[in-house]
Amino acid sequence: MVKWLSASLACLGLSTLTNAQYRNSTQIGSADCPGYRVVSTQNRGNAIYSRLTLRGQPCNQYGKDVKDLILKVSYESSRLQVKISDAEKKHWEVPADFLSPDKKFRTKTPMKHLLEFTYQKNPFSFTVKRKDTGEVIFDTTGHRLVFEDKYLELSSALPENANIYGLGEVVDTFRRNPADTIQAMWARDVADPVRENLYGAHPFYIELRDGKAHGVQILNSHGMDVILANKSVAYKAIGGVLDFSFYPGSDAYEVINQYTATVGRPHQIAYWSLGFHQCRYGYVDIDEVEGLVKNYSLAMIPLETMWTDIEYRDMFKDFTLDPINYPLDRVQKFVSKLHKDGQQYVLIIDPAIVRNESYPAWTEGIKQDVFIKNPDGSTYIGQVWPGYTAFPDWFAPNTERWWTTQIANFVKDVAIDGLWIDMNEPASFCVGSCGSNRTGIPPYPWMDPDYKPDVPQTFPEPPYAIHNAYGNLSMKTVSTEAVHHGGLTEYQVHNLYGHMEAIITRKSLLAIEPKKRPFLLGRSTFAGSGAHEGHWTGDNWSTWEQLKYSISGILSFQMFGIPYAGADICGFNGNTTEELCLRWMQLGAFYPFARNHNGKGNIGQEPYLWESVADASRKALHTRYEILPYIYTQFQHAHELGRPVWRPLAFEFPKDQEMLDNDVQFLVGPGILASPALTEGATTVDAKFPEGIWYDYYTWSAVNGHTKQILAAPLNGHLPLHIRGGHIIPTQEPSSTVSQSRKNPFSLLVALDEQGNAEGELYLDDGQSIEVGKKFSRITYRATSRGILANGHFGYRSGVVLKNITILGIKAQPNQVKVNGHTVSHDQLSYDADKKTLIIAQLNVSMDKPLRVTF
Ligand code: NOJ
Repeated sequence: MVKWLSASLACLGLSTLTNAQYRNSTQIGSADCPGYRVVSTQNRGNAIYSRLTLRGQPCNQYGKDVKDLILKVSYESSRLQVKISDAEKKHWEVPADFLSPDKKFRTKTPMKHLLEFTYQKNPFSFTVKRKDTGEVIFDTTGHRLVFEDKYLELSSALPENANIYGLGEVVDTFRRNPADTIQAMWARDVADPVRENLYGAHPFYIELRDGKAHGVQILNSHGMDVILANKSVAYKAIGGVLDFSFYPGSDAYEVINQYTATVGRPHQIAYWSLGFHQCRYGYVDIDEVEGLVKNYSLAMIPLETMWTDIEYRDMFKDFTLDPINYPLDRVQKFVSKLHKDGQQYVLIIDPAIVRNESYPAWTEGIKQDVFIKNPDGSTYIGQVWPGYTAFPDWFAPNTERWWTTQIANFVKDVAIDGLWIDMNEPASFCVGSCGSNRTGIPPYPWMDPDYKPDVPQTFPEPPYAIHNAYGNLSMKTVSTEAVHHGGLTEYQVHNLYGHMEAIITRKSLLAIEPKKRPFLLGRSTFAGSGAHEGHWTGDNWSTWEQLKYSISGILSFQMFGIPYAGADICGFNGNTTEELCLRWMQLGAFYPFARNHNGKGNIGQEPYLWESVADASRKALHTRYEILPYIYTQFQHAHELGRPVWRPLAFEFPKDQEMLDNDVQFLVGPGILASPALTEGATTVDAKFPEGIWYDYYTWSAVNGHTKQILAAPLNGHLPLHIRGGHIIPTQEPSSTVSQSRKNPFSLLVALDEQGNAEGELYLDDGQSIEVGKKFSRITYRATSRGILANGHFGYRSGVVLKNITILGIKAQPNQVKVNGHTVSHDQLSYDADKKTLIIAQLNVSMDKPLRVTF
């Protein structure tokens, strides 16, 4: 596919420029633009409004300078919003209802002006200062403000070597290079290249400065560049308004809390979705898929959810089944068996609807006027898997009803448990339009060496070319000229396409099953998409480099409010190797979303195909399933407060210089440190331990913080995991499915800190209802040298017992242990004086009641 693209780019006279070439090209000009001055200011309600006017002759660098602007500065909770827009004419802005702000947060959090806004009148510039430290976190002094119809530019100074995280979607280090990063925001279907724009657009960053964190977001769906260079951050957008939000923090989690309160809290996940998933592009028929499920079971590797890719469909058409390879009765039998065995089934759908007069999704779609149009009003036609296709226009009034009907009709036949929404940048194989009169099924362009775009096109491009790595903005997607309902153009709303599909598809699934948490995984995301769906990092490669980058990819999506994220385990493009797949299964078993997914034509990579990989997978997934209650609790915290499920060490230890660039280790929740082996041939891992005391998850031996350790990581061993002193991890004995595991006894792993204290939390509910009312439990555990207390709200009846408590770091053997007032017999206690661990075994007390353990 890559080859085809370069060829077609070349034949169109376009070329893909490297970032360096772009930077040296003349387009980042320094034309003498006059800037603006403030002519009047007034306070209205909660906001300050100023009118700005051009200070001199327009420079018209990349369009026409707008003469008069309105600046609006307002506070909402702790967020400071600074918005600059055209005073006379409305430019396209992301509508408020595309975000899902947390209203409770808005009303509950008292107005605290943690940030101070000041401005200079002539030329207009502004600064944002933290009140607690006096640090200026954003300063446009001396930088241009350009506001043209097709070009907006604003920059701020950054400290030397600033610690900037975020700005995506991208494959890169977690901490972005502050001296040389050009992040284009233009949703793009591409096979995960390094440091280029990808599927989603997230112009949001967190900066760590002297141990404190703040966040900066621009809300604008137009294409843009965000450039880190020359001790500054520059925003260069090709339209819209400059709508900045500043989040004061003061730690990174508080920033994410404030950010997700604004754009949308992560949705509450279904518990089963934390199990292990298997997929591939290219499972030819239902026999193969059934065989796979059996093989998993024979290999005794837990499999929670089976997925099928586009080949289940009849000629790749959404909402259909291939009558030969995936006949309805066989698929139905297969799904019932999965459900009987406590497993799930998820299917892929693409937004593109093939033009075919005997295909109801098409004929109904045309009738109900739901597709994107050409400027002349005809239906816009691109090409995706099934041939010439139209694209749903999520803005059109009938689209939601039409889409829901298509899904509902299909689900009546096939009881799927969730949807995987792919190709929604939207991807299209023609370069711009394929020509609206075309019918039939063309070959895929990359399979045809003589492929030429069907229609001569002019590619009207904006004067400022953002660093979209395909060059032309209409390349491999819908043309920027295509028209959505209300006259909106793809140029304005391209980056919202996948996000809107997620909003509508979630509504569709809820309309079909109103009481159940929908499962939705999407490729193209935007600010706030986590309220509706999870995300996988797209078409990665079976390489060691991409194994490593999967960590920063997942960490950045935690920041973007999409914690349910994962990368294709063992890699999507190219052939994996036994060793790579083994290491990937070891790491991927701890991804928030853990799915092995493979591309078409590659060697198989299901974990049971090699005994070594099967063994490593069993071990790793055993541990994942053991800590599922803890992981589920982290997801609840994400849902309520935006808190990341995977935590970067930089955010957890922002004062520790050693941690600021560390994206090869990470924390699962606050209490478990993972140090994966990421290089070929490795048998050990060089791990850095931040402050505190850390206990090996498997051997319980303690490691002191602020040290570097070489950890054994043999291929036939475990991924090195350490529990952080001060944390209590609720665990549950694992079975091969999530629902079975949920019926097993719990245990507590209590890792004491240097002072002999620890705490933890457990959130439980039925794992699937949209509304749980009071039927949830939120149990707080506290351990001290005198004992352990469990209290809280016990509204969910788990019906299971707490079996064992293991206490790590307990300095002496207690003379007596009482549980809920009853003395525990000596043969239930075992103390290891060397390791300083105490096991209290066979307690078998209810999990659904408070607990008091005294020493
Ligand atoms: C592209 C997706 O990123 C990939 O995961 C999927 O397998 C293919 N489309 C085929 O549907």
